[in-house]
Amino acid sequence: MHTKLNMENQKTQTIILELKEEAKQSLERPLFEYFMEEPRRVETMSVSAPFIYADFSKNLLSSKTFQKLCLIPLTLQIDEKIKKMFGGDDINTTEIRPALHTLLRRIETPSSPALVSKHALCVKALRQLESITREIVEGKKKSAFGERITDVVSIGIGGSHLGPKLVLDALRKKTSELNIHFLENADQNEIARVLNVLEPRNTLFLVASKSFSTGETLLNANEAKKWLSQSHPCPKELNQSFIGITNNSLAANAFGISNENILPLWDWVGGRFSVWSAIGLPIALGRGMTTFYEFLAGAEEMDDHFLNSPVNNNLPIILALLSFWNHNCLGAESYAVVPYCDNLRFLPSYLQQLEMESNGKSITIDGNEASYNTAPITWGGVGTASQHAFFQLLHQGTRMIPVDFILPLQTGDFDQELEHYRVANCLAQSETLMLGNKRKNTKPEKRLTGSRPSTTLMMDNLSPRALGALLSLYEHKTETLGFLWNINSFDQWGVENGKNAATRIMQGLNSKDYSGHDQSTSSLMRKYVERIVKDEKE
Ligand code: F6P
Repeated sequence: MHTKLNMENQKTQTIILELKEEAKQSLERPLFEYFMEEPRRVETMSVSAPFIYADFSKNLLSSKTFQKLCLIPLTLQIDEKIKKMFGGDDINTTEIRPALHTLLRRIETPSSPALVSKHALCVKALRQLESITREIVEGKKKSAFGERITDVVSIGIGGSHLGPKLVLDALRKKTSELNIHFLENADQNEIARVLNVLEPRNTLFLVASKSFSTGETLLNANEAKKWLSQSHPCPKELNQSFIGITNNSLAANAFGISNENILPLWDWVGGRFSVWSAIGLPIALGRGMTTFYEFLAGAEEMDDHFLNSPVNNNLPIILALLSFWNHNCLGAESYAVVPYCDNLRFLPSYLQQLEMESNGKSITIDGNEASYNTAPITWGGVGTASQHAFFQLLHQGTRMIPVDFILPLQTGDFDQELEHYRVANCLAQSETLMLGNKRKNTKPEKRLTGSRPSTTLMMDNLSPRALGALLSLYEHKTETLGFLWNINSFDQWGVENGKNAATRIMQGLNSKDYSGHDQSTSSLMRKYVERIVKDEKE
């Protein structure tokens, strides 16, 4: 049985039907005409949130239609769902657990009396993070070889990797001599690239894994052990060269990490929402606890904006509504995130997991198949380089692909020419996507239709606070879309099957038994093994 979008809410259904009708007209109207009709369009279709000014006037809808979009959260009572999330209700309905990533940054007081104990755990973990950071940075905590730690390798994948990697790269002011590295894929070339330049006696490994059962992470952790063991003389105990960041301390103990070297995670924080937790240790080590606290504080400011702003002035909700309009009404299949700043080069990958692993679902909360599209495809790249890669398709392709332009200002030593160039190109792309080229007698191959929508997020700066606010903004956009689509944004059953299949295929490769698989997979397994055997004989 298909569940219509919240069919039981007749008001919502009526609004959506009207919006779909209006969408058909919008697709026929040149976007720039809205500006002709609405002299105050920018004023009515822009909003200031913490550290971020958003101009969404270059989206393909009238301000009247936008106001109608803003009725949906009200008829769906999305504010109630938001409050339940912050309040610790079991909104992760298939795993029967809360989604309390917001508690991680509410350091002063918990958002409700019911969260006092969980809040105390968060504060305690922050203090552990602070102390372990101090011990390592000040050289008090030695490696298993009894020597100072100069290099830290964070082993993790997905939410245990993407957040720290993004934040460490975005905030480039080093506050310690420590060099931070990352091991993500189970790939001997990556392992060689990262470890070959390091000295085992001075290297500390962080095994960042909420489950402590992710294949790639365990393989890399064992490779790290082997690498350390190749040193001579090798200490009997390697424990001191590892720190575990996990919700599964038993598995971490079994690997050889003792409890005093384990920082806690909890099942009420999803992996892709965990950068604010002890998973953020690489940030604290490389950029300092003050920076980490600033990062948390910026996210909390956006939390407060999300909790307290009216719908038509609430940036996370507006981004969610524009996504609903672009994808569920106008029919766009994907959208591009294009930060015009090298410091945010890892943002598209981070948002891919956040948005696509959260809302890449087809079953609604009540267990029925959704009769509408849910998450679009999130992709993107850094500007201006993307102008020399995929902007051709954005301007002249057959598909309408909305763009989020992210434009941080004051990102480094001000060089007027470079800054003007960066800003001018960002604004030029959004203007050209909207206007196309209306020159008369333009040859067909040189015509740009225009009317291609975009939103520009201009950031005051790229301080730790501003970055925290930006990531919190997209978390809340993601949650709001989940509430709107009536899906569970906090589980990820779809990735389990792939993991289990890989285990079965590994067993088949090791035993050279290719049965139990489809014809193609069996044939590929066989070809692979035969190729290895052939190589070994040569
Ligand atoms: O991709 C599946 C997933 O479970 C993500 O949700 C998670 O961030 C990642 O794998 C790593 O999981 P863990 O932190 O348990 O190793």
